[in-house]
Amino acid sequence: MNELPRERLHALLRQMPKAELHMHVEGSLEPELIFRLARRNGVPLPHASVEDLRAAYAFTSLQSFLDIYYAGASVLRQQEDFFEMAWAYFERAAADNVVHAEIFFDPQTHTERGVDMEAVIVGLAHACRRAHAELGISASLILCFLRHLSEDAAMATLEQALPYRDQFIGVGLDSSERGHPPEKFARVFARCRELGLHVVAHAGEEGPPAYIWSALDVLKAERIDHGVRCLEDPALVRRLAAERVPLTVCPMSNVKLRVFDTLAEHKLPALLDAGLCVTLNSDDPAYFGGYLNDNFVAAFDALPQLAAAQAYALARNSFEASFAPPAVKAGWVAALDQTFARLTA
Ligand code: ADE
Ligand code: ZN
Repeated sequence: MNELPRERLHALLRQMPKAELHMHVEGSLEPELIFRLARRNGVPLPHASVEDLRAAYAFTSLQSFLDIYYAGASVLRQQEDFFEMAWAYFERAAADNVVHAEIFFDPQTHTERGVDMEAVIVGLAHACRRAHAELGISASLILCFLRHLSEDAAMATLEQALPYRDQFIGVGLDSSERGHPPEKFARVFARCRELGLHVVAHAGEEGPPAYIWSALDVLKAERIDHGVRCLEDPALVRRLAAERVPLTVCPMSNVKLRVFDTLAEHKLPALLDAGLCVTLNSDDPAYFGGYLNDNFVAAFDALPQLAAAQAYALARNSFEASFAPPAVKAGWVAALDQTFARLTA
């Protein structure tokens, strides 16, 4: 593939069909919607205005972000709130040519405040169905356990969610990584696998490569969310590459949470050069300054090694790494090939 002028590369990044596999729906809650839902539900907020709230989005670590993220999610109370939040994300995703999204949700953030599991899952699932019908996005849900809470709490959450088993395709593990290794959740993930759920886990964002090993060996994770610290362990990189374990990488998140100081220092090129099945994702787009296409454009602008060939690999990997059936994946890859033929000719 020849080098494209910058504007044509941008057009390609924006227009190519792609899947998003690492997006926490509570992290798509924009300040304007936080204020509207707070007013509607009578929830007091510590910030006087949308501008004040946005000004507080200066994070120094994962934990400093999570404190604000959980406070923002406290405005979600009713089924309709969960629908509106997810629908707003899907409208943004459609504009970015996302054709498939597997989105994370954190039920414990809500059930711990007395919100019914039903309101959470039914509201989100309604938005997924409507995204398919009206926007042509195939969308599914992945239930994440909060790793700063106990395994017993995760098990209880799973039991509460089981009446809605057909509304989510898998489980994940998120929240504060350090001090909460994957093996803390061995039993609950074993139960999830028995139930036929897909399994993913955040590992190697702030935590060490050992957490990626145990996500693979103990939890049997099919994808690793973030995983960027795998590069510290060559044997791990060899395994991830040989088994084509996808890494759902989130460039703008990594800079906002200080995993890398700047995008120019991001290890995305090294991950791709190592032959890993890397995908790009927005993580918490309302908090980290951009949605999926913003992540693509910002990463490609900051990292001159990245060109059309890497754009193709990232989009293709996003389909390969998804949990969609093979025939559906093949259809998306054919559409990707057509877009490339048109825009790189
Ligand atoms: N929850 C929302 N975003 C997260 C992230 N980047 N890491 C861990 N937990 C999260
Ligand atoms: Zn995440």
